[in-house]
Amino acid sequence: MKKRILSGMRPTGKLHLGHLVGALDNWIKLQDEYECFFMVADWHALMGEYEKPQILPEFIIDNVADWLSAGIDPEKAVLFIQSQVPEHLELQMIFSCLTPLGWLERCPTYKEQLREVKTRDLHTYGFLGYPVLQAADILLYKAGKVPVGEDQLPHLELTREIARRFNSLYNHEVFSDPGAILTKTPRLLGLDGRKMSKSYDNTINLSDSEDIIKKKISNMITDPERIKLVDPGHPSVCNVFAYYAVFFPEMKDELHKACADAGLGCVECKKRLASCLIELLKPIQKKRHDFLKDKQMILKILEDGKARASAVASATIREVKAAMKLSL
Ligand code: TRP
Repeated sequence: MKKRILSGMRPTGKLHLGHLVGALDNWIKLQDEYECFFMVADWHALMGEYEKPQILPEFIIDNVADWLSAGIDPEKAVLFIQSQVPEHLELQMIFSCLTPLGWLERCPTYKEQLREVKTRDLHTYGFLGYPVLQAADILLYKAGKVPVGEDQLPHLELTREIARRFNSLYNHEVFSDPGAILTKTPRLLGLDGRKMSKSYDNTINLSDSEDIIKKKISNMITDPERIKLVDPGHPSVCNVFAYYAVFFPEMKDELHKACADAGLGCVECKKRLASCLIELLKPIQKKRHDFLKDKQMILKILEDGKARASAVASATIREVKAAMKLSL
């Protein structure tokens, strides 16, 4: 039997290249080897976006269109929306009863977000419980592996702690410890050299037009010490070179040499990168265009995913209640 995987993404904006190399490419590879559940984490999104929840429906459809266009195959993987499977909240509630406050208050991602996020007030009861809901997501499907970025490791650790606490309190091995699958791709930085993130406005979105991609790339900062064309460049400190290394490793050596020998200027180098990225995204965007023309088909896929996810989720809840001797 195939091992099971669960992963999720919050529908809070358009997907960008960081999602492609940081998550989607990985998900696509895992589809054959594992039984995959890929979830739109709309409740998690709501925890941050509760002041403007109306943005969520559009991004749910938009993000799923990108998943499908990038190569997530609904014949292989189960694609579903978290809020359409109510058992997530049921298990979250149960877990919230047995999760000590200190575990949540100490969580590094929680502390960091409270410190960093200035545009929204995250001092809420719901946001403190973010990792409890994530534990419920993972354990509801008894996922053995969870593909995530490094930033999510504290949540996975909490998931294991909650699983162990549940098992020991009710004296049943209902849950086993899920492990992480970390993406091997080096972290892709944003256009300005910071982490690629919608909130920094430094992304290249999977749906960006040719003109926008050209414009965004042309504004990228290259080696600051290379002022004139004849100055030799230092690819190791150049973010444009880093993009080549991630997306077009086959061109890496040649470009490295051309830059260090001052044979290729930054303007030309960026033009080339833009046209390569445009070519890379073309097939995805073509499919995206077709999927978005047929929203009913996306909804049908999610409806089907909901049924398949619900079958697993309801069986787990039954088991949980039996272990807790809650069944009447
Ligand atoms: N917290 C994850 C993120 O922001 C999204 C998420 C929600 C998730 N539930 C999950 C990821 C379960 C993996 C498993 O990226």
